[in-house]
Amino acid sequence: MPAGSARPRRLRTTAALRRLVAETRLHPADLILPMFVKEGAEEPAALQSMPGVRQHTLDSLVKAARKAADAGVGGLMIFGVPQQRDETGSGATDPDGILNVALRRLRDKLGDDTVLMSDLCLDEFTLHGHCGVLDDQGRVDNDATLERYAEMAVAQAEAGAHVVGPSGMMDGQVAVIRRALDETGHLDTGILAYAVKYASAAYGPFREAVESTLQGDRRTYQQDYANRTEALREVRLDLAEGADLVMVKPALPYLDILRDVAQISDVPVAAYQVSGELAMVEAAAANGWIDRDAMILETLTGIKRAGAQVVLTYWATEVARRLQSS
Ligand code: PBG
Repeated sequence: MPAGSARPRRLRTTAALRRLVAETRLHPADLILPMFVKEGAEEPAALQSMPGVRQHTLDSLVKAARKAADAGVGGLMIFGVPQQRDETGSGATDPDGILNVALRRLRDKLGDDTVLMSDLCLDEFTLHGHCGVLDDQGRVDNDATLERYAEMAVAQAEAGAHVVGPSGMMDGQVAVIRRALDETGHLDTGILAYAVKYASAAYGPFREAVESTLQGDRRTYQQDYANRTEALREVRLDLAEGADLVMVKPALPYLDILRDVAQISDVPVAAYQVSGELAMVEAAAANGWIDRDAMILETLTGIKRAGAQVVLTYWATEVARRLQSS
């Protein structure tokens, strides 16, 4: 006999009871699908280290976006893979650059049916693969990069992004982007700030997806994963600079940070379940070592339970469909 009369197992007796008392629920609208579009591609290409994820052509991007929207997915985050790269990442601000072309096409085809978001960063567009421009000693130049981000934000808003997602971790990026958007009349274009972004090994597969040319690492701008207090400082700064949503990235190794951020943020909190998180589950599942579908729901529910209101996940469309039919 258990001491006293408390029997917590009582609420776990049937599936219906468990469903009734579940504190955390996933909903398709909480999910954002990150997508890749490659300039000049004639066929979509599968990515070896990201099973199920593709580098899209413009046409296949629109089709996949439509499927996501039909499944109720809350938003799309678009990444461009250009054919040419240069020192300043000029393809990022060129209205005819792949990312801006894709945004225009998606906004034209999908209108306001889903929330269209764009990655605001230079790494896909620079020859050296860093998230900003370099100074004459080869270091990432924070303030020169901010000028490029301001131009990029305006180009993306003009192309039709509802929300821009600065992911470069430059100091002051949210303030500069907000000002640039406001000055050009894009008062309703929102900012999803990658407020907390750790220098993580979990971005490895993504770098295949965008054909990254990066030499070295990003540790002079992305955060050291040993630190927690710094994450809260980054969030406070981004809130003060005008972030409409704040994000923590990656997700699973940083659930403690996510919890802390959710406690201090008065704007919605997002988490990014990154490429390496997908790869770990898919690789284990491909070996028959793990129940893939169960693991996916468990990770997403854990991320939400920790404090994320929305989650970026490459599994968004699949999970949204599963939720719709359950
Ligand atoms: C930078 C960016 C990265 C990711 C999203 N935006 C890569 C990086 O910082 O190296 C990674 C996303 C993922 O791994 O799924 N533009």
